[in-house]
Amino acid sequence: MPALMSDCSDNSSNAPAYVQHRRLRLWVAEVAVLAKPDRILWCDGSATEYDGLCAELVQSGALLKLNEKLRPNSFLARSDPSDVARMEDRTFICSAKRDDAGPTNNWIAPAQMRTTLARLFDGCMRGRTMYVVPFSMGPIGSPIAQIGVEITDSAYVVVSMRIMTRMGRPVVEQLGADGEFVPCVHSVGAPLVDAAGNRFEDVPWPCNKEEKWIVHFPETREIWSFGSGYGGNALLGKKCLALRIASVMARDEGWLAEHMLILGLEAPDGQKSYISAAFPSACGKTNLAMLIPPAPLKGWKVTTIGEDIAWIKPGKDGRFHAINPEAGFFGVAPGTSVQTNLNAMNMLHANTIFTNVALTPEGDVWWEGMTDTAPASLIDWQGKAWTPEAGKKSGGLAAHPNSRFTVPAAQCPSIDPAWEDPAGVPISAFLFGGRRGGTVPLVVEAPSWEDGVYMAATLGSETTAAITGKVGVVRRDPMAMLAFCGYNMGDYFAHWLKMGTSVENPPRLFRVNWFRRDASGKFIWPGYGENMRVLKWVVECCQGKAGAIETPLGLMPRWEDLAWNGLEQFSREQFGEITRVDAPAWRAELASHDELFEKLGDHLPAALEQRRAKLHAQLEA
Ligand code: OXD
Ligand code: MN
Repeated sequence: MPALMSDCSDNSSNAPAYVQHRRLRLWVAEVAVLAKPDRILWCDGSATEYDGLCAELVQSGALLKLNEKLRPNSFLARSDPSDVARMEDRTFICSAKRDDAGPTNNWIAPAQMRTTLARLFDGCMRGRTMYVVPFSMGPIGSPIAQIGVEITDSAYVVVSMRIMTRMGRPVVEQLGADGEFVPCVHSVGAPLVDAAGNRFEDVPWPCNKEEKWIVHFPETREIWSFGSGYGGNALLGKKCLALRIASVMARDEGWLAEHMLILGLEAPDGQKSYISAAFPSACGKTNLAMLIPPAPLKGWKVTTIGEDIAWIKPGKDGRFHAINPEAGFFGVAPGTSVQTNLNAMNMLHANTIFTNVALTPEGDVWWEGMTDTAPASLIDWQGKAWTPEAGKKSGGLAAHPNSRFTVPAAQCPSIDPAWEDPAGVPISAFLFGGRRGGTVPLVVEAPSWEDGVYMAATLGSETTAAITGKVGVVRRDPMAMLAFCGYNMGDYFAHWLKMGTSVENPPRLFRVNWFRRDASGKFIWPGYGENMRVLKWVVECCQGKAGAIETPLGLMPRWEDLAWNGLEQFSREQFGEITRVDAPAWRAELASHDELFEKLGDHLPAALEQRRAKLHAQLEA
């Protein structure tokens, strides 16, 4: 880790005696010299500390305590309206060479970025507390886990990190005197005192309205984030460490760090399989990970390991093994209801921090889609009075479309007994899904690993509110990692191709699409729990038991290959429509893959070009 400055000693880090790691103390002292906080507080991760911080946040107006009877130990935060989502246009991969970041990442030369960071962070914590948050991604001590230390001036980030990661003193003890950690520096970029000593009033959601930067140095494995307090911009263990930095580690060390849920599937005969699935943000990963099979599919059971990130390593048994590096879920609230995700609704009964949802007169939460009709009066996500009538007139929503819940994973009713197994669980299949109104069929199995990598590399999805920018346009989102791959996307494809040969029994690869629409624009497939019918077929494919037909895209189920009991109202015609391979639409689709492939230039593996030529030929045949 490069030194920031040399004129400070490790005892100015205010570290408690249990911190034996001199390099860590020194780094904390250096950041403090730069950021100039009023005080430094090392977080031990205890319940007392969490409760104390939440009480302080309530006192300052940053959190609102929800009705203790309805939602025990739970809080509501309202963000600044300018700070409501991840900001991909403000996210940078500062590799030494531009080519290593590749054309899909924003890049600035490391030296230039360090000059900018030195300016931004100089005095940025004046008047505030600087918290030191040691955290483990993955069970503490697991050979798959990685340790990070986040320095932040946001107590909201500290309490969120305590839910989302294993955090505090046990992590420092695991680090010992010289363990490796990823240094992560975060500031909301809103000092309470200026350089001249003038003091300002704090606001409930401090952030920097002018400048936001989310910066990664892949070679030195460092993260710096400035100006935002929201989600993946600020909880640096998640997208920054567990995906962008971890993807670089995974490339170098021969494993995969992926934007994937992990779920367990138990068949009526008790046989258990695990599946990992990649979907772009806000495409229903959380719902799929907690799916409840429809009653007519008696005997099938779904369990949850993770709903956003998977770290996957080759095992000695010739299979890939996956862990969920997170300890909590940061899920999209709107659309979550007892109908769409009963497990999530039950999981949120207590100990949850909600951000940007609406508040009911009883002191509970509400969001669009939670119930068919909205309560007669609410306080919206910006703290203003809201009624369904006024909302209809103005188009204003009660909850922000990217409003979230932050909740401990252990509260999930469907949590898998092996969710904290340090060795991970064996993966039978990888699913890749996007939100596509047309063209892409319900499910198709790739004929080979290479075909599957092509399918995943060309994944497209209509954009959602999880990121800033236009909603509803198709963008290529390879492996759902467009925003999260910390290196050149062409090299990432090559890594995926190589990983298929790293174990004897790699998972089978499938493309799925729950979002196909009919001529009137309505979704054809019922989705949610009914997706179990597709998962069942996937598991049976892996066991060599499923019926299927060959199509130009790969193997697809025929009507008779899926279980229909309890869904008899779904007609054969509708099934024909969601599984239709429309050759002209596919020719246009293949042509649109060029847009990404051309950008990658000579980093694009030849094998993927060949797969495309093969697909072209098959569509012509
Ligand atoms: C997330 C995202 O928050 O992908 O998980 O945006
Ligand atoms: Mn995600």
